[in-house]
Amino acid sequence: MRLVLLGPPGVGKGTQAVRLSKRFDVPHISTGDMFREALAKKTKIGLSAKEYIACGKLVPNEITIGLVRDRLQNPDCAKGFILDGFPRDVAQAEALDEILKTLGVPLDAAVYIDAGPDILVKRISGRRVCEGCGATYHISFSPPPEDGKCQRCGGRIYQRGDDREETVRERLKVYKASTEPVVDYYKGFGILKAVDGEKDANEVLEIIISMIQGRQ
Ligand code: AP5
Ligand code: MG
Ligand code: ZN
Repeated sequence: MRLVLLGPPGVGKGTQAVRLSKRFDVPHISTGDMFREALAKKTKIGLSAKEYIACGKLVPNEITIGLVRDRLQNPDCAKGFILDGFPRDVAQAEALDEILKTLGVPLDAAVYIDAGPDILVKRISGRRVCEGCGATYHISFSPPPEDGKCQRCGGRIYQRGDDREETVRERLKVYKASTEPVVDYYKGFGILKAVDGEKDANEVLEIIISMIQGRQ
């Protein structure tokens, strides 16, 4: 299974990618997570991405596309992948086509998850993330343990720096201008599957699975 997950910040791409990755036994590749891990390790890529992430802008394509190209060549991607947060503009979508052409594999679907602005803001402001394993919680919808430690790995649970109101506003603006055109790009290729991301997370998962298996 080779999937791209598209949608605005906070809509639930990461939440669904984790579940789909388990269900289809393929790696979950999130460029946002890769940048955050690189930043925590203070690698060159992490340090170059830092300022862009902090202000909600896209990390330049010359950094991001190379990162994804390398990752997709890893043998664990031979049976498929779930891409979360990439491609994020039309140039990245075209680059992904090139990479997959070289690898000789097609994309099965681009899953577009959407929700209204009030829901996005509520999800982002309540999100909490584990520093150790990246597990995602929400103060109302999937509350973290009371001791503030991740139930999977015991890691510290924190709020992402780019989830501050001002940065969220910029991320939504960048999404409209740069990422929304990617929806039409995949519609043009006839592989776009749209799902209502306002539903409960389990329901969203089942709808996605039905759609990609051609039952809906
Ligand atoms: P990235 O990490 O990709 O952030 P994003 O796209 O803004 O998306 P989020 O991770 O905020 O939201 P999500 O859709 O994953 O939602 P989640 O599942 O967590 O990117 C961060 C930055 O990195 C970018 O701004 C950019 O600078 C850089 N970057 C990354 N990729 C790049 C690229 N390709 N090119 C250039 N730059 C790049 O859910 C949110 C919350 O809602 C959680 O608390 C969750 O528990 C809850 N929730 C989820 N689903 C439901 C539901 N159905 N019902 C109730 N609650 C739900
Ligand atoms: Mg995410
Ligand atoms: Zn954890």
